[in-house]
Amino acid sequence: MEWTAAHMSDVILETHNLTKEFKGFTAVSKVDLSVRRGSIHALIGPNGAGKTTCFNLLTKFLEPTSGSIRFNGTDITREAPAQIARRGVIRSFQISAVFPHCTLLENVRIGLQRRLGTSFHFWRSEKSLSQLDSRAMELLAEVGLQDLAHEITVNLPYGRKRALEIATTLAMEPELMLLDEPTQGMGHEDVDRVTQLIKKVSAGRTILMVEHNMKVISTIADRITVLQRGAVLAEGPYEEVSRNPQVMEAYMGTTDGQLKGAH
Ligand SMILES: Nc1ncnc2c1ncn2[C@@H]1O[C@H](COP(=O)(O)OP(=O)(O)OP(=O)(O)O)[C@@H](O)[C@H]1O
Ligand SMILES: [Mg+2]
Repeated sequence: MEWTAAHMSDVILETHNLTKEFKGFTAVSKVDLSVRRGSIHALIGPNGAGKTTCFNLLTKFLEPTSGSIRFNGTDITREAPAQIARRGVIRSFQISAVFPHCTLLENVRIGLQRRLGTSFHFWRSEKSLSQLDSRAMELLAEVGLQDLAHEITVNLPYGRKRALEIATTLAMEPELMLLDEPTQGMGHEDVDRVTQLIKKVSAGRTILMVEHNMKVISTIADRITVLQRGAVLAEGPYEEVSRNPQVMEAYMGTTDGQLKGAH
């Protein structure tokens, strides 16, 4: 394929034949994934379909057995996880695990400091510390947590913790955010709140998310890729994918209903 300028600006992430084998078992099988810049792209599929493994390959948490990964037109297949993170591919709920006994503000500040990594000495001055705090407050405001800045993280309800994790991920300045089941284990209210939050923080960024909740997907996902037994079963917008008989079969074991999702 020709990597023309137009193509590169359209597509932020592209995999070709991405494959991961574990001792002869193929968890991810020849996956061609194409994520459009600025979109919310959902990766769905039954339990064990290979979604999380796919994420682990994209961040190089796992080494692909074969295939390639391109980010912004550059082949990153052989790059180290830290290098990929520096490029702006940031996975939430992994790099951004929060410290339960720190305040919310401290957690976001740690995220900001981590991104700056080696230039630690820069933060020794009072002025730079207060700049760090004000940026951390901005990020907390972006996820609606500014009033809780000085609370201890462990005291937060579950949904708010997830919002904080999004703030600490934003601190890493992601260009592509990978969210693995961001609404997992939440009640309706928190699901709605986090769904809207994801929509909000998607502005100016690209989001690739694994999600089981079809309501969340139908509300915010621009495109969906369905995995089954490691391979791509279908790809397209929700309206199209949800009517695909093979997809309904894979999910429901039936072809007579709408795609309702969940486990
Ligand atoms: N490190 C590993 N070693 C061996 N097999 C693995 C490993 N990691 C994952 N697998 C297998 O690969 C398959 C895909 O797993 P994966 O976790 O990617 O699925 P998933 O789509 O994320 O499922 P879920 O919806 O349950 O999170 C599963 O059969 C799993 O048992
Ligand atoms: Mg998973």
